[in-house]
Amino acid sequence: MVPASAVVPKPAAMSWEAAGGLLLAGATAVHALTATDVGAGETVLVHAAAGGVGLMAVQVAVVRGARVIATASEVNHAYLRELGAEPTTYCEGLADRVRGLAPDGVDAAIDCAGSDEAVDVSLELVADRDRIASIAAFPRGAEVGIKMLGGGPGADPGTSVRDAARLHLTALVQQGRLEVRTRSFELCEAAEAHREGQAGHVSGKLVLVPRA
Ligand SMILES: NC(=O)c1ccc[n+]([C@@H]2O[C@H](COP(=O)([O-])OP(=O)(O)OC[C@H]3O[C@@H](n4cnc5c(N)ncnc54)[C@H](OP(=O)(O)O)[C@@H]3O)[C@@H](O)[C@H]2O)c1
Repeated sequence: MVPASAVVPKPAAMSWEAAGGLLLAGATAVHALTATDVGAGETVLVHAAAGGVGLMAVQVAVVRGARVIATASEVNHAYLRELGAEPTTYCEGLADRVRGLAPDGVDAAIDCAGSDEAVDVSLELVADRDRIASIAAFPRGAEVGIKMLGGGPGADPGTSVRDAARLHLTALVQQGRLEVRTRSFELCEAAEAHREGQAGHVSGKLVLVPRA
């Protein structure tokens, strides 16, 4: 059974693959941006910005009028620029690279990577811990007092924010302001899709589809 609150009409021009990739990642991103109160004119740092949730967070932050600094491997930088973000690589020297891009400071951070680096750099650059959220740094995030979101232990499930996000997300797709990057696998390729996901460098969402 699917709860009625989880079902929204699919925009006619939207593919089933994109629809399948939209709602969990999109609602998680809206939850993170809402929990950190990201608004117009602010600068937000998004870690793992080319992943499923990261790409949603980047685009919805841009819709909110924020400036987005996005961490990703170089291969994903051109696409992140197209979406309106300013990309930089993660690993060694991340805090300094972000300071170079945003000398006036970073207002909020969203961690979709769950790494110690993402948590540490966020703590170093964002003054208010209430404006740092992670969807993946379990259990460390709670220990250092940042907001933990979603289904992990002690995290805020954000049910009402996520329920309300669904229609907002499909409306953004319909308006051409949000795109869902997907890569499709046939059902018989599920194992390969899992292996790819586990390798940790998926950009967007992997979607399983029945054979055409
Ligand atoms: N709490 C929740 O509500 C919730 C909801 C959905 C997902 N999640 C969790 O949140 C995490 C992100 O989900 P997702 O679906 O966005 O994952 P994903 O699509 O698998 O994320 C892949 C991305 O992670 C980046 N990445 C890999 N290693 C990194 C590192 N050390 N530092 C920074 N970025 C790195 C990769 O970037 P490059 O390829 O550019 O290197 C890749 O684009 C997962 O752990 C997932 O289980 C939580």
